[in-house]
Amino acid sequence: MRLRNKPWAQDYIHAHPEVVIANPESRKGKWYEEFGNHNPVHVEVGTGKGQFVIGMARQNPHINYIGIELYDSVIVVALEKVLEQESLPNLRLLNVNGKDLTEYFEKGDISQVYLNFSDPWPKTRHAKRRLTHANFLTLYKELMPEGGEVHFKTDNRGLFEYSLMSMTDFGMKLQFVSLDLHANEPEDNVRTEYEEKFAAKGQPIYRLEAKFK
Ligand SMILES: C[S@@+](CC[C@H](N)C(=O)[O-])C[C@H]1O[C@@H](n2cnc3c(N)ncnc32)[C@H](O)[C@@H]1O
Repeated sequence: MRLRNKPWAQDYIHAHPEVVIANPESRKGKWYEEFGNHNPVHVEVGTGKGQFVIGMARQNPHINYIGIELYDSVIVVALEKVLEQESLPNLRLLNVNGKDLTEYFEKGDISQVYLNFSDPWPKTRHAKRRLTHANFLTLYKELMPEGGEVHFKTDNRGLFEYSLMSMTDFGMKLQFVSLDLHANEPEDNVRTEYEEKFAAKGQPIYRLEAKFK
């Protein structure tokens, strides 16, 4: 997702370092100082306009959430939504590339990773850009304690099939797989922007949970 260029986005982001962390490198290994507690940290890579990570932070006040988004024109929409909320002390945003996670986090900083409606990159030559490629799984594993989990939702069947293979080839244990999440939608499911869009068109939503061994 890349919204129309917003020349004001950077200024707006810089004006709100309490939400979009300005120097995330400086928090590496010390995210508990940023949040003021030792609660688990869950990270969504490719957070888009933020509906999921905001909903999760509201639903689970004892978990700290970090939404990571590459484009300032997109994360600024998430920022606006955060600022509309009364108070979300357990949520931060990072305007960075998920491939650089090790610059901002060290082993044990993250206890769970969420990937929602990640860009499918259907061409084989772009497979390394998929957020469920082995290179990304290696990164996530490096930053989580043993037994860390990746939770993934998508409307894209090809990406879902690829991710099932990629994760099992990587030696992860699949704990949950649904080929139609909304056929029996869990009460605590927080829908993302894309999820609502595809569900409205009647498309099935695929979901999995996988654990590093
Ligand atoms: C298709 S959108 C889905 C947004 C949201 N998760 C949802 O479900 O509504 C994918 C988002 O991931 C972001 N993204 C893709 N690759 C990324 C990366 N390597 N690091 C950070 N964000 C990334 C894109 O900019 C885009 O906003």
